[in-house]
Amino acid sequence: MDRPYIHINCASTLDGKIARPDGSRLRISGEHDMERVHRLRAEMGAILVGADTVINDDPKLIVKEKFVPDPPELTKIILDGKGRIPASSRFLRTKGTSLIATSESCSGEWFENITEAIEHEDLDAEVIMLPCVNDVFDLSKMLEELNGMKVESVLVEGGSVTISQFVSKGLFDIMTIYYGPMLIGGSGPTIMDRDGISGVDIEDVQRTYEGGILLTIRPSNISR
Ligand SMILES: NC(=O)c1ccc[n+]([C@@H]2O[C@H](COP(=O)([O-])OP(=O)(O)OC[C@H]3O[C@@H](n4cnc5c(N)ncnc54)[C@H](OP(=O)(O)O)[C@@H]3O)[C@@H](O)[C@H]2O)c1
Repeated sequence: MDRPYIHINCASTLDGKIARPDGSRLRISGEHDMERVHRLRAEMGAILVGADTVINDDPKLIVKEKFVPDPPELTKIILDGKGRIPASSRFLRTKGTSLIATSESCSGEWFENITEAIEHEDLDAEVIMLPCVNDVFDLSKMLEELNGMKVESVLVEGGSVTISQFVSKGLFDIMTIYYGPMLIGGSGPTIMDRDGISGVDIEDVQRTYEGGILLTIRPSNISR
């Protein structure tokens, strides 16, 4: 399958949590790791997150100038099968094209709200309808479409459900996990709350300046 290069990146506590127990944002990365993430974003053509990351964190999905001078614009891709992200989301109003992938399961009201915001505010955004089975898109088909749009690389930043889908289907080339020095406990979202794969190659383990660990993983026995 022709697809863009996929890098999955996330930050986790040492007990595998990527957010607080109530799903709200947990600052795991220090400044040094944030710089790594923004430099990584700057090398990629697109950044992709799931709907609940937008709903919980309201991220801007940009490359910050404080980390990368003259930052490039990213294509921002949101997976939102049922159409739940608010039209007020911040990423819609930051630099770069936004692609909101949804399906026929989205409500007419949501579709109207989001397309109205795009038209009235002249936002650089597009809602793409994808065929779904049980409310889930075929990610391979979506990636083929991105390939057709000349998106050469995608940084998948989460959350848990989204990472699980890419990993369980072997749709990644490299995964980096920054483990921050904290053990938060509780029942918050983990790196992958859904299906995974058995067998990955650990390519590198680095101790960071901020007392964390940066783990680099590659899929094993999975050919592109
Ligand atoms: N520490 C980190 O690095 C990091 C990074 C990002 C996020 N987070 C945290 O992660 C949490 C959110 O993660 P999450 O697992 O709850 O949700 P998520 O992965 O952000 O979003 C899941 C939703 O995305 C949509 N989606 C994903 N794949 C899809 C597909 N193939 N087809 C159709 N829709 C698809 C679905 O929305 P519909 O239900 O609308 O279909 C699904 O319910 C937040 O607490 C956030 O703070 C942490």
